[in-house]
Amino acid sequence: MISADLVVSGCEQLLTCRGTAPKRKKDLLELGVIEKGCIASKNGKIVFVGREDELRSQVTETSGCLKIDGRGLTCLPGLVDSHTHLPFAGSREQEFLLRLQGHTYLELAEKGMGIQSSVEKTRKASKKEIVSLCHKRLNTMLLHGTTTVEAKSGYGLNLKDEIKQLEALKQADRSHPVDIIPTFMGAHEVPKEYKNKKHEYIKLLTQEIIPAVREKNLAEFFDIFCEQGVYSVDESRALIRAGKKAGFKIKIHADEFASQGGAQLAAEEKAVSAEHLIAINEDGIQRISNSSTAAVLLPGVPFFLMQNKRAPARRLIQSGAAVALATDFNPGSSMTESLFFIMQLGVYTMGMSIEESINAVTLNAAYAVDRHNEIGSLETGKKMDLILCDAPNYPFLVYHFGINPVKHVIKNGKWVVKEGLLYG
Ligand code: NIG
Ligand code: FE
Repeated sequence: MISADLVVSGCEQLLTCRGTAPKRKKDLLELGVIEKGCIASKNGKIVFVGREDELRSQVTETSGCLKIDGRGLTCLPGLVDSHTHLPFAGSREQEFLLRLQGHTYLELAEKGMGIQSSVEKTRKASKKEIVSLCHKRLNTMLLHGTTTVEAKSGYGLNLKDEIKQLEALKQADRSHPVDIIPTFMGAHEVPKEYKNKKHEYIKLLTQEIIPAVREKNLAEFFDIFCEQGVYSVDESRALIRAGKKAGFKIKIHADEFASQGGAQLAAEEKAVSAEHLIAINEDGIQRISNSSTAAVLLPGVPFFLMQNKRAPARRLIQSGAAVALATDFNPGSSMTESLFFIMQLGVYTMGMSIEESINAVTLNAAYAVDRHNEIGSLETGKKMDLILCDAPNYPFLVYHFGINPVKHVIKNGKWVVKEGLLYG
């Protein structure tokens, strides 16, 4: 018999999302649904997943075992947000209002708003303030079903303030149930004090900031904004190689506004993921699809920037890309913590199926942060991270849009959201 200290039973549907990561092509349609599904864990790890009769015959409960009734609820793995800019200070609603008057994101960025304005506010904020902002946002994420989040620095753009953001992430990770995967993004922009001397900032990054962040062990990934007017493909390649040499895994913001070969670079450098890809060309689609690099699509961005273009999700899936979806939570181009909303945008605005969009925020999202052996599916041995949604079946999660369906969240085998409220 299997001993368990937490049992969830009788879920209308339990989506295991099990399978070999990453899921590609037709595998993206498989959710591993168990009707009237049950799941059990011990010490935060899944020990059983199956039907009610199997639960009864295979699992014994420890004394004090926590039991949750899944009737009326749909159960799925805790969601993984594989791309966010979590530790920023301030907000940019004034810029949003200007955009509503017809000014574009890039035009406002050139006038010193955009990323630079968040850099100014983040530099002025104390570490403590950033930790507390992170907490507030992590609470919102958890209430919306996100149990693991990748978070980028990149609003410091100097040694002291990049480190401050990353140390704030470390503190927030220790003091909040949501797991944070930290990414160093000192190459998010060129800071304004280096406006006409980008090469000097690249030198500073390479010689001082990258080694210092590594030395302090503050980040797992290195990310760069490879985009026309920011970092060219050649500059990105050089920085990525410096990042790799220091021991970082690689992510790349590629082909967001213009196609300059960022997707090809990601495949060539064996980046763990390439993000955005709205302007990816056919060659880029082929190269990404034939590589191990995940294609992380961020439909919140063109939605929030009110642009008609979308990443070619269907072409990418047909070609065999490992597609994931993420919020890109940030104050300037995607101000949302909700992965359910992003899944809905995937379906409503990019032609993705409901199954594809769910796999894209669970197992494939875990793959995009190199955590697919620990999280992203409900399988024996993985972390007991799950969500129970007020939905009779999984299509309901997309059909009933614009609301938060999350009723309960279990993180590492602990009940952290109960009846839609933070708990424990
Ligand atoms: O992923 N593209 C660069 N960075 C963010 C935007 C950040 C901001 O506007 O503050 C993004 O869209
Ligand atoms: Fe981003």
